[in-house]
Amino acid sequence: MAGRIPQTFIDDLVARADIVELIGARVPLKKAGREFKACCPFHDEKTASFWVSPDKQFYHCFGCSAHGTALGFLMNYDKLSFVDAVEELAGRLGVDVPREAGGPDTHDTGSASLYDINARVAKYFAARLTENPVARNYVTKRGLTTNTIESFLIGYAPDSWSAVLQEFGQHDAGRQSLADAGLIIERERAGARAQERYYDRFRDRLMFPIRDARGRVLAFGGRVLGSGEPKYLNSPETLLFHKGRELYGLYECRQHRTPLTRLLVVEGYMDVARLHQAGITYAVATLGTATTAEHLRRLFKLVSEVVFCFDGDRAGRGAAWRALGNALPEARDGRQIRFLFLPDGQDPDSLVGTEGREVFEKRVDTALPLSEYLIKALAEDVDLSHADGRAQLAELARPLVVKVPGGVFRDLLIERLAESIGLNSARLSHLWFNEAPGANGLPAPIRHGLDRLAAGGKPSGSRVATSTGRGGVVTQAVKLLVHFPPVAPRISEAVLAQLDAARDSGAQFLRAMLTELREQPLAHTGQLLERWRDRPEHARLQQLATQEVLIADEHAALTELNQAVGRIALAEYTQRYDELLAKSSSSDLSQTEQAELLDIAAAMRELRVMAQPSRN
Ligand code: GTP
Ligand code: MN
Repeated sequence: MAGRIPQTFIDDLVARADIVELIGARVPLKKAGREFKACCPFHDEKTASFWVSPDKQFYHCFGCSAHGTALGFLMNYDKLSFVDAVEELAGRLGVDVPREAGGPDTHDTGSASLYDINARVAKYFAARLTENPVARNYVTKRGLTTNTIESFLIGYAPDSWSAVLQEFGQHDAGRQSLADAGLIIERERAGARAQERYYDRFRDRLMFPIRDARGRVLAFGGRVLGSGEPKYLNSPETLLFHKGRELYGLYECRQHRTPLTRLLVVEGYMDVARLHQAGITYAVATLGTATTAEHLRRLFKLVSEVVFCFDGDRAGRGAAWRALGNALPEARDGRQIRFLFLPDGQDPDSLVGTEGREVFEKRVDTALPLSEYLIKALAEDVDLSHADGRAQLAELARPLVVKVPGGVFRDLLIERLAESIGLNSARLSHLWFNEAPGANGLPAPIRHGLDRLAAGGKPSGSRVATSTGRGGVVTQAVKLLVHFPPVAPRISEAVLAQLDAARDSGAQFLRAMLTELREQPLAHTGQLLERWRDRPEHARLQQLATQEVLIADEHAALTELNQAVGRIALAEYTQRYDELLAKSSSSDLSQTEQAELLDIAAAMRELRVMAQPSRN
């Protein structure tokens, strides 16, 4: 895997991007005051409720509440993964994407020439298909239309040991690229002439180019025409191609303007081609391997629902069980994973051919949820009518359930299992995790803070009445920062220091955010959202970005933010002050506590003075 893209690069990239130009190239925008508007590309509408702000580098639809940054738009509209969106944006600005150490750099000249040779060979194969009657006859027999052949760039590798070699390998450099791309193979006993040292890997095969999200050809899969071994031959692993990462058909899925909401994972190239042809344009295939965790992470970057499709035979059930094992760590709240089993002896290619799109999609709609499949599969091996069997089920399920990250989904899974086992779910959870259900592994104060942030800044407990106000002020302050990130470096040390002792998790978050933005300043909202993309607060910050702030400029924002911090600090001190006072009425305060009380009283006086609107 390539190394991480440095955050500083993403900061810069987003700072240089122009969201108006980017969106304007895809959606006709109309100027309206300082912003631009259009009919929303993400839902059907007649009047424009889609707004793009050049100041904030952020878009927002008031109709369907779609929103995001320049990168977010590329992800949602062009259906790119985050990394691909970064590459795309960088490509438009003419810069290379750097990678942190730790992985091969896929952007050197070597890979550029591999993309190039793959693209040229794919075209060459496509042209051979149109002129070869036997190959054309085969695709017709398999029911592929010209349209499908073109959109998948399907081709034919001639029945020759040196067709590709002759065409592209006349010079050393070309031969080297072909060899690096896995298109030619070096002979064990090399002949004297350079050209005789190699032979074509793909001969007399129907060729399926495997493309990345941006449509670049990474590798090929080739099928024999008729019978023969091996039935499918893939490119070897190369600089560009890693079988466990790529999904056949993903690029093709993204070529449709309908929003991608779910993806169907099938087994074969033909399945994907025929499903797309039938109108099921959300099918992809793994390349003859089990579905890996990496595949799943890619899929869930695009959609929240993934349906695995397997043959109903023994091999299919085995593959499904392996897919389940890899899927469990990715089973998070808000993600749907389901399993579809086809009748024995059928694959999607044959089924969609005979029963058509609608009937096939009914199957997809009613595929088994992961939890149901897990329980059903485990229950097949035990006898639930006996206590022994039920205990056995609990034992079998345990190693699987612990792979699921804590959260609502795991709780539900435990509940369903408890039901089958005839045990109270709290007890089962205790047995497995030694903890109460619902606890998700984070230290309580952090969990509390995140809950509060998620709940819109309102305190989740009833412990501190004074913090009702504070939660609101914290949210207001965070919102100001989201809308006016450049203000942060202008907050003085002294003001920031007021939050040093904050115990409220919201206030602690605000302090951390201010500190970071002072050290690494950002120019606008879009940049801020990108910096927070992988952090737990991202969704909440995005949401704050879509809300109005009734503040005209940075100057006003600074004043407001200074006051907000003062109010938060005051609330913190007041709470501690009240605690110490209450304690002093029932017992003696220690020396340090007495000193603290005096310090707090002084700090509160000062804050009250500062909180007064200035009169000059
Ligand atoms: P058709 O027979 O053309 O309909 O293909 P299929 O997709 O129905 O074939 P099958 O179910 O046998 O294989 C599913 C997928 O597994 C294929 O698309 C390939 O990716 C992979 N596969 C099948 N056979 C081979 C093989 O012999 N070698 C390799 N490397 N992969 C294979
Ligand atoms: Mn098949």
